[in-house]
Amino acid sequence: MKDIKLTIDKAFGFVTPDAVSAYKAQAQQAQQDLEQGTGLGNDFLGWLTLPSDIREQLQDINQTAQLLRKECEVIVCIGIGGSYLGAKAVIDALSNSFAWLQDTKPQIVYAGQNIGEDYLFELQELLKNKRFGIISISKSGTTTEPALAFRLLKTQLEEQQGKEAAKRLIVCITDKARGALRTLATQEGYKTYVIEDNIGGRFSVLSPVGLLPISCAGFDIASLIDGAERMQQVCGSNTPFEENPAAQYAAVRNALYKSGKKVELLVNFNPKLHFVSEWWKQLYGESEGKEGKGIFPASVDFTTDLHSMGQYIQDGERHLFETVISVQEPNHEVLFPNNDANLDGLNFLAGKRVDQVNKMAELGTMLAHVDGGVPNLKIEMPKLNEFYLGELIYFFERACGISGYLLGINPFNQPGVEAYKKNMFALLDKPGYEAESKAIKARL
Ligand code: PA5
Repeated sequence: MKDIKLTIDKAFGFVTPDAVSAYKAQAQQAQQDLEQGTGLGNDFLGWLTLPSDIREQLQDINQTAQLLRKECEVIVCIGIGGSYLGAKAVIDALSNSFAWLQDTKPQIVYAGQNIGEDYLFELQELLKNKRFGIISISKSGTTTEPALAFRLLKTQLEEQQGKEAAKRLIVCITDKARGALRTLATQEGYKTYVIEDNIGGRFSVLSPVGLLPISCAGFDIASLIDGAERMQQVCGSNTPFEENPAAQYAAVRNALYKSGKKVELLVNFNPKLHFVSEWWKQLYGESEGKEGKGIFPASVDFTTDLHSMGQYIQDGERHLFETVISVQEPNHEVLFPNNDANLDGLNFLAGKRVDQVNKMAELGTMLAHVDGGVPNLKIEMPKLNEFYLGELIYFFERACGISGYLLGINPFNQPGVEAYKKNMFALLDKPGYEAESKAIKARL
């Protein structure tokens, strides 16, 4: 069986193989710390075994998804950060690029991931007189953005369907006991799923947080979990450092960081992967950006962004390295036609697949960027399907845990995200924030 494959040789003009191997002992220690729960943040390691642990819930998740699919024209997934990015990444990667223009039912839309008034107005307009359902996701159950969206849309749903009918169309995914969303779900009698205490938001895509929306979109969550479980074996501590893709990726990116490459660009040559990059940015940014340290995770969609960011990448400050996700075999075939007049001069491509052009763009870009001083790592995905997305997700999660330990930080907390919330609540005069309100207003 083919698996996703990591290649790091195009980093070796910039760091030596020895600089990568130097992390062997530390990476093995990190692996043990993850598996035995002896490292920092060890109360947040539930994601490690999720692929095997979640199996028993798959049937129930699929049943709930079937019910929502049958009843709804539109399903609104409410959540922010780790409570929506994983689902959106997988759904976008597997959906038709023009699904929103097609008659596909149900359409999946998102809310609670911003506080845009126009966005919410337009969403409410879209949902008017439509049969819609809501999946409300918040681990803490107290996050402002999704709570605000949920109150608005729940009210609308109850007005359109009646309170009793609305109850069948709302599912909540939250903590088993704590938080306002749990209280509300219990009081209203909504169907719920639990986010376990030991699974952080950005590591939760393989829990009901990601699986319910993905199943609602019509995709095969069992196959996604199969792929993740396969990577659980491949990336485990039994696999030697030299053959372990997660340990190798963690080691090489730390070696590059140490050599001054402070920014990692996740690159794709397939626009369907745009939100995989958004999910990855959260995973690595929130896990590693701490204590004045951490690679800055950024992303580009090629070839699109070669016409906007290409100049900087080729020629700007040399603090970048790239990790390219390369999908080996497209799901469809488009052949380039011959044209007798050949006015566009493209007959040299006649009979070739569009993907051949894309692959040569990929190869040419990689060589140009390496020549320009940008180390390249490559992750080959045999195909874009549920199984390989499952592999990719688990690979990145596992590597993130190892990489964070190599960096010497706790990859599983996020103390920095509280600062803006405190200021926002103070500025909004939230009860309990009186002293902060006074202090912050004096600064304006
Ligand atoms: O990864 C994380 O922990 C965060 O990004 C959270 O997912 C995000 O802040 C949403 O939190 P919650 O699910 O509690 O609403």
